Amino acid sequence: MTMTTRSTAHPAIRVRGLEKSYGKREVLRGVDFDVARGSIFALLGSNGAGKTTIVRILATLLKANAGTAGVHGFDVAAQPANVRESLSLTGQFAAVDEILSGRENLVLVARLRHLKDPGAVADDLLGRFSLTEAGSRKVSTYSGGMRRRLDIAMSLVGDPPVIFLDEPTTGLDPEARIEVWRAVKELAGSGTTVLLTTQYLDEAEQLADRIAILHQGRIIANGTLAELKRLFPPATVEYVEKQPTLEEIFLAIIGGDNSDAADTEHLGGQG
Ligand SMILES: Nc1ncnc2c1ncn2[C@@H]1O[C@H](COP(=O)(O)OP(=O)(O)OP(=O)(O)O)[C@@H](O)[C@H]1O
Ligand SMILES: [Mg+2]
Repeated sequence: MTMTTRSTAHPAIRVRGLEKSYGKREVLRGVDFDVARGSIFALLGSNGAGKTTIVRILATLLKANAGTAGVHGFDVAAQPANVRESLSLTGQFAAVDEILSGRENLVLVARLRHLKDPGAVADDLLGRFSLTEAGSRKVSTYSGGMRRRLDIAMSLVGDPPVIFLDEPTTGLDPEARIEVWRAVKELAGSGTTVLLTTQYLDEAEQLADRIAILHQGRIIANGTLAELKRLFPPATVEYVEKQPTLEEIFLAIIGGDNSDAADTEHLGGQG
């Protein structure tokens, strides 16, 4: 059921036949996908589907059992140092220092990365993420959405061409999610390639150029939202044509046989 993968000469991320087991538990059973440069790619899956496992393999934090993966043209197994220089990872949990101000956090990261003029780098990022006014305040006074934006801004210090966002809006309220979405869209607009994982279908619908659904260790669908919608003809109900939502497509594709997937509280988000 995997849909066409547009073959690009030099995708920013290329994954082929990726397999990973933890002990006897096979989490990835042959995962394939490409992410085009400058695009936003959403990896969608229920809790435990293996999203973070893929991100960790791509970020060279974890070794695959089989298959290959490349980031920015570098092989994760053979050229891990080049891969690490090409990407930045924002994990599932924020890594900001509460005691410092937003600006101090950014300056600290810029210093650690040996950038020239850390102050200017920090001010530029504060501006891009609408944090200029809050920049001098301690992070402990920030809202969840501001923290998340700062977290993403910190991962952009040094302009990595590829950024991984692992569940960037989990735990945020609807307004904060919209703020983070705006920041992510802005990112891709400036040419950065974004791989994001999410369990929120509306997030993928809002942000992604392409969406891949990870289920039982494989990518079972991969396409644009329009392509995924075409998999399912619109249902006709009393003369009113209804387009399927991504949630309906998701549940139909995975066959509703997954207890996590059936939990629409998680999957529907704010719908
Ligand atoms: N270090 C580990 N040792 C054993 N099992 C693990 C380990 N890391 C992950 N797993 C298992 O592998 C599966 C996939 O985990 P992973 O964290 O990749 O899922 P996920 O899609 O990111 O889930 P979530 O949406 O909850 O973040 C889960 O069943 C998890 O329990
Ligand atoms: Mg995860």
